Amino acid sequence: SPSAITTATASANTNIALIKYWGKVDEAQAIPATSSLSLTLGGTRTTTTVSFDGGDGAADSVTINGASPSAVELERVTRFLDLVRARSGVTAPATITSRASVPLAAGLASSAAGFAALAAAASRAAGMDLDGRELSRLARRGSGSATRSVFGGLVLWNAGHDDASSYAEPVACEMDLAMVVVVLSQRYKPISSTLAMRATMSSSPLFPAWVEASGRDLQVALEAVRAGDLARLGEIVEGNALGMHATMIAARPGIIYWLPQTVAALHAIRAMREEGLPVWATIDAGPNVKVLTEGARAEEVAAALRDRLTGTAVSVRRPGGGVRIEEGPC
Ligand code: PMV
Repeated sequence: SPSAITTATASANTNIALIKYWGKVDEAQAIPATSSLSLTLGGTRTTTTVSFDGGDGAADSVTINGASPSAVELERVTRFLDLVRARSGVTAPATITSRASVPLAAGLASSAAGFAALAAAASRAAGMDLDGRELSRLARRGSGSATRSVFGGLVLWNAGHDDASSYAEPVACEMDLAMVVVVLSQRYKPISSTLAMRATMSSSPLFPAWVEASGRDLQVALEAVRAGDLARLGEIVEGNALGMHATMIAARPGIIYWLPQTVAALHAIRAMREEGLPVWATIDAGPNVKVLTEGARAEEVAAALRDRLTGTAVSVRRPGGGVRIEEGPC
């Protein structure tokens, strides 16, 4: 029978994939087409409190950054809580309050931190005591990238083939890595990653080739990490992200998340590399660019990016920790 705990607060950081996740072979279970590798970023926590305190027949009540979410977002949270209720035996509707430490429009995947924190808070509030792997499997059902935000630093999400085998785990890394986030547009509303993945898988002739390349990319990336070879890692990271975008650009109709400024940033990063800076680009389901670099040179890189890309917001993010249970409410 469920224990007495009915309220819990947890936090999680966002993460940026170095080797991307793009495509689900099983949408209901969120089993990805490929394994992926990411860096969890410090200072990007979302903190969420869940209380199973609602009366019979009431709906879940959700507040995100002090405001009510859209009907679509609310439904996504309720569907996720239904999984937790089904497993724990708790039946009460919940009150959920969530606060992000960086603005939602900061160009950092917010669903990764959001669903990792929600998985930890909701499972704890429902009296479950999940280990890291179980938590990462649960977070996967909320948002694919949330699977990886359960852990800190460098994280590998094993694609697996079913619920039990699709989970993330930390990867040992001695490298001094940082991500410089370049926000080019805050207004742009791209199509959701789920819809874009579906369209890419069903209509892009390039998708099977990317899946194959991605498996090799992951092995090279892991070797580069073991060898501490940033240039090798960076080349693979940039190539993998460009390949992911190539597959969706080739979907019919093509999905183009890039803006003109995105292409300008890619060229600026190439020019900086020719000048000797250790910089490699990665891009997610939006127009913004994240730059993988060496931690010791991150401020120098940020200054060079501000110089070349005027009118953009540039911020340095260093590796951060995994999901955490917090003492008080958020
Ligand atoms: O977690 P989702 O379903 O929003 O998908 C994220 C997909 C990318 O950010 C583009 C790549 C990744 O691996 O995070």
